[in-house]
Amino acid sequence: MKTFTEDFIFGTATSSYQIEGAVNAGGRTPSIWDEFSKQPGKVWNGDTGEIACDHYHRFEEDIEIIKSLGVDSYRFSIAWPRIFPRAGEYNPEGMEFYRTLAKKLNEAGIRPFVTLYHWDMPQWAYEKGGWVHRDSVTWFLDYAKKCFEELDDVVSMWITHNEPWCAALLGYYEGVHAPGHTDLEEAVKVSHHLLLSHGKAVELYKNETKYEKPIGITLNLTPVYPASASANDELAAHNYDGYVNRWFLDPIFKGSYPKDMMNLYSKEIRSFEFIEAGDMESISASCDFFGINFYNRSLIQYSAESPLLFEPAESDYPKTGMGWDISPNEFRELIRTLRRDFTDLPIYITENGAAFPDVLEDDGTVRDSGRKDYMERHIRAIAELNEEGMNIQGYYLWSLLDNFEWAFGYDKRFGITYVDFSTQRRYLKDSAKRYAEIVKARKI
Ligand code: FCB
Repeated sequence: MKTFTEDFIFGTATSSYQIEGAVNAGGRTPSIWDEFSKQPGKVWNGDTGEIACDHYHRFEEDIEIIKSLGVDSYRFSIAWPRIFPRAGEYNPEGMEFYRTLAKKLNEAGIRPFVTLYHWDMPQWAYEKGGWVHRDSVTWFLDYAKKCFEELDDVVSMWITHNEPWCAALLGYYEGVHAPGHTDLEEAVKVSHHLLLSHGKAVELYKNETKYEKPIGITLNLTPVYPASASANDELAAHNYDGYVNRWFLDPIFKGSYPKDMMNLYSKEIRSFEFIEAGDMESISASCDFFGINFYNRSLIQYSAESPLLFEPAESDYPKTGMGWDISPNEFRELIRTLRRDFTDLPIYITENGAAFPDVLEDDGTVRDSGRKDYMERHIRAIAELNEEGMNIQGYYLWSLLDNFEWAFGYDKRFGITYVDFSTQRRYLKDSAKRYAEIVKARKI
């Protein structure tokens, strides 16, 4: 039996584009995901976030679900195109939606943990050059400043960016996320501007003495293992670790980009002059906590054909419905490595969860034993890591609801609540009931 202190924060998480729908309501204009998902072949089944979970209209019902779980906190993100539907044009109606949501959560004793950017850049900003353009930092700061001014009193913690690796590399290099570009130079520039906008937003927040809430960033991290002990596989694993993890960890915690990765990237990037004097100081501005989204480990092998010399290797681990290795032990190793090499900030696991092909039974139950088991193993790992002194202060289960899973559309269900998308009815899965028990007992 493992226990959690009274202070430990249990929560659940979502993001704006994945659940809200109502894409034309309240003065919102399109985001890059509205445009991307409309392009044929980009998203499974041609799915879009146009309706999603219709959370924009059903948020009160969703707050009731959150309450029934007994969690301490709820993590959600703000849709930038609701707040600035056009360049320089603030939309109070958009802000009001989030103010009401946060207020109602507070009234229910649930702490709002708010992400500013979970990938839905307004289309107008993309058309002006998007994250490739250095001015994106200024556009983001205008938006962040407004959110701080209007919401700080009802928000308990702030996250600047969710998973900049996905926004930059999946969006601008691998082409599988909006806006679907495949240009490494652009992607690396984008990563720099995302990180810079993070650092500058933290500086802006910290320079205003009236703001005192914790602020930080969330990275998706994956512990990387070579498929064999060969020098080539070791090199490939090191490169992949650089690609996903170190390219973001190093600037945030050490104030510099990893030299080996700059070398590797230099075959496609002619100049790193977009890194200007003072940028690295801003990017490494000190935060109050560090957010980690953890899903799986990565097994990597050498590939001479791949431009960055790595590719995923076949693994014999049990897998989730995404084909991702279930790897709570490697999660433990990841946290220990972070503590050793990078940071002593309080850690929040801002996302962890699993997709499985769920079946809704006639009596409204969903017996999602795979998800329940995945969740229990990771929660147990956290309790054990805390016994080692790893100082993990919170855990957010992804996700409150089945939702629009990006390029996988509605094919992949990550929710602990089943959503019947034809009726918008919600059903608590067995994993949700089990989570409520754990949260209540603060024991596993
Ligand atoms: C993370 C994203 C989140 C969700 C989960 C499954 O990378 O932050 O929006 O899609 O994966």
